[in-house]
Amino acid sequence: MESSMRSLYVDKSRYVEAFRLYVKTSTEHRSMQKFIDSQLPEIISSIGDGKRTLNILGIGSGSGEIDLQIISKIQASHPGVRINNDIVEPSEEQILNYKELIARTPGLDNVTFTWHKKTCQEYESDITQEGQHRKYDFIHMIQVLYYVKEIRATLEFYSSCLEPNGKLLIALLSGHSGCSVLWKKYGSRLPPNDLYMYISGAEVEEALSSLGAKYKKYELESYRDITECFVEGSRTGELLLDFLTETCDFKKNAPPDLRDQILADLQSPACSSTRNGKLILKNSIGVFVVEE
Ligand SMILES: C[S@@+](CC[C@H](N)C(=O)[O-])C[C@H]1O[C@@H](n2cnc3c(N)ncnc32)[C@H](O)[C@@H]1O
Repeated sequence: MESSMRSLYVDKSRYVEAFRLYVKTSTEHRSMQKFIDSQLPEIISSIGDGKRTLNILGIGSGSGEIDLQIISKIQASHPGVRINNDIVEPSEEQILNYKELIARTPGLDNVTFTWHKKTCQEYESDITQEGQHRKYDFIHMIQVLYYVKEIRATLEFYSSCLEPNGKLLIALLSGHSGCSVLWKKYGSRLPPNDLYMYISGAEVEEALSSLGAKYKKYELESYRDITECFVEGSRTGELLLDFLTETCDFKKNAPPDLRDQILADLQSPACSSTRNGKLILKNSIGVFVVEE
């Protein structure tokens, strides 16, 4: 790693600003939404074994938009059940955003939210210390495994927290996405690997296979407009580049050779294509559904 660079994740408010832009410039949330509308109902139809209360665990839920969509599908597929929703989210700011979203969302009367302001590793050690495994009917980890060091051990632990018929849903950039191409090539020069692992669906699949897990895989098409990254002085472009490289103020702090190589690669056919005068990054998402 180059010494002038630090992880975007250490600057929490820049991270949240960059994340908002990151969401806005891509079809990622739309692709997840389509998946939630078309595929999730079938996936969740068998959870719960007919119980009147379902226990759900959201890991790295951020500001909660995807979580609430998942909850509404669970409510539709299991009418009248009570839902206990545990949220493991280390960012205070994201928890506040999530709470504000709940306050303006109707139809959540049968849902209890319990907040755990911590990482999934910290939550894992809480559960382990309790001695008795807390069990869940549905666990999701959406766009969060990048921040988890031991993905194999984490997947093994949280799979062991599934109730009979429970499911674990994982989503992250697929091994075919433009970012994953960049990370494979430059990951060792980007900062710092104890906060952000440059991993993709390829590594998750490897971990699940080595665990002998029973899982189903989906590849969701998604794109990101990265035109602004090449507009001189554009703050939007700078923040986007920060998120793509997970580096704080990448354009300013990256060594010039690394910056130029990454900017050139982002425009190469392995990562992107031009459509209607816009530079569009391949942003496909890998979704894995692990069964108990
Ligand atoms: C890219 S956001 C995804 C948010 C949400 N799941 C979504 O898809 O919109 C990643 C979230 O994971 C949280 N996070 C980071 N490290 C984590 C960890 N070790 N354990 C749990 N959550 C973590 C971050 O604070 C952030 O809110």
